Amino acid sequence: MSNIEQTLSIIKPDAVERNLENEIKTIFQNNNFKILKEKKLKLNKDEAEQFYKVHETKPFYNDLCEYLSSGPIIVMILEKENAIKSNRDLMGATDPNKAENGTIRKLFGKSIDKNSVHGSDSPENAKIEINFFFKT
Ligand code: CMP
Repeated sequence: MSNIEQTLSIIKPDAVERNLENEIKTIFQNNNFKILKEKKLKLNKDEAEQFYKVHETKPFYNDLCEYLSSGPIIVMILEKENAIKSNRDLMGATDPNKAENGTIRKLFGKSIDKNSVHGSDSPENAKIEINFFFKT
């Protein structure tokens, strides 16, 4: 049975800063993701805290929110069969040092914080995250 899903993808400040936007989008397209919507924006710290609220009890929460709000990001709605898992596989492990060859984080990530991309981790969070950036 087909399971077309939408997921929220973010090209993070470290990748935007290095002009990797087009290269990363091409990887998504070559892996059969459709980019349904996209925009470039900069979050303030409060907005980043709201976006990453699921991590608010983690020791890295403050640094994470400082970082996500440190520069422009590209947010995209990606669509594909099983898009959520497919995107997580394509991104690779959170820590670029542990990511498999050929994954986006292995190719471009600099550290566990500056890991170049974010992707929703579940259908529930995909809905919440898409709505966060693309509320109509
Ligand atoms: P992301 O997929 O955007 O979701 C939360 C982010 O927290 C994660 O990518 C990492 O960039 C960042 N992070 C920083 N430290 C850690 C850690 N120890 N474990 C997991 N994520 C971390």
